[in-house]
Amino acid sequence: MRFAEIWASLLPLGRDPAAGGYRRYSFTDADTACRNWFTTRATERGLRTETDRNANLWAWWDPPTPRPGFPGRGVGDAGGFLTAVVTGSHLDSVPDGGAFDGALGVVSGFAAIDLLREREFAPGRPVAVAAFGEEEGARFGIACLGSRLLTGAISAAEARDLRDADGVSLGAAMTSAGLDPAGLGPDENLLASIGAFVELHIEQGSALDGLGEPVAIAQGIWPHGRWRLDFAGHADHAGTTRLPDRRDPMLPYAATVLAARQAAAEHGALATFGKVIAEPGGTNAISSAVHAWLDARAPDETSLMRVVSQVEDAARRAAADHRVEVSLRQESVTPPVTFDPALRARIARTLADRGITAPELPTAAGHDAGVLAARLPAAMLFVRNPSGVSHSPAEHASIADCEAGVQALAAVIEELAAR
Ligand code: GLV
Ligand code: MN
Ligand code: MN
Repeated sequence: MRFAEIWASLLPLGRDPAAGGYRRYSFTDADTACRNWFTTRATERGLRTETDRNANLWAWWDPPTPRPGFPGRGVGDAGGFLTAVVTGSHLDSVPDGGAFDGALGVVSGFAAIDLLREREFAPGRPVAVAAFGEEEGARFGIACLGSRLLTGAISAAEARDLRDADGVSLGAAMTSAGLDPAGLGPDENLLASIGAFVELHIEQGSALDGLGEPVAIAQGIWPHGRWRLDFAGHADHAGTTRLPDRRDPMLPYAATVLAARQAAAEHGALATFGKVIAEPGGTNAISSAVHAWLDARAPDETSLMRVVSQVEDAARRAAADHRVEVSLRQESVTPPVTFDPALRARIARTLADRGITAPELPTAAGHDAGVLAARLPAAMLFVRNPSGVSHSPAEHASIADCEAGVQALAAVIEELAAR
């Protein structure tokens, strides 16, 4: 099946017709539709499907003559390891996300397998397409939750305590989607069975467009994280409360947003407040509380922590000025990632041998490959996104560039999974 055909079969799922964006939140009906889509695409290819302990999906293309595998340090190491070559990405989305973020990597995984089979390639080791759960953290707040659980970067107990905006626990949400939360937690056997993970993703920037190439190799990921700030004030009447009498949490929140922008600019970093909840949310009432989430990213950990501490200081000062209480809590931090240099070099050589020029690019976007990189050789391919827009319905890559991505991914799988 051609890329465009597989792509078209996923496109309608979880799309909000009014906004034009995707609302594929974990363990909702839209997510279940995406999971069923994954299983159908795998089954029609004769791939063995599996849902792991952490609700991540796997579609396995087993080698024709299976031999007992044993854990290895990576594909291509001496000893003929039979560890698997895994590709894939995620199917969940941010609120009103684009069609490509995550989905492109999963569709490209299936399309690459189709292409390799058309060429009668027989893998010498298992090949899999994976779809990791709750990558965006849009429902439960922790990005890359599925891969973090798999690798032990977050404990099962911590994950079980997570609640969505309506107070529904992760466990309850999984159960209502027909998934079993009992086994949540690290899966050392599954990890040991993977020799390399190569995630294909739409570029979330426009560097490739500037370079005139359709495909890049990721160099690494900036350290980044999420912090929750709670401002507690005093609810009162918007028309009758004198300005000096107010304890309005919206004011220190507003000052904190401006301070975050300033701190980011000072440190060559990025800081965003993209989610804020004002309680109780009446137009004619002073808020009793404001809950806000800071997303911060920087080229190095020192700059990241400086940005966060400047934001925290500004929040405390502004809160004191307005007689408001404030607390700040770290929700998640991902350390800097440098993708496996040997795997990157091997991918670059493989692509160059096929006449594909793939520049290396760093990114400030988070990915499951970045989480897995702490435990196994991981790498990423990026596909050109001319406008650079992502996390928005305007995100776009041309079908021709997506097909170039599939060609590159197929070449990489062929190289890594050769007999
Ligand atoms: C994921 O897309 C992230 O970078 O937040
Ligand atoms: Mn994303
Ligand atoms: Mn993504």
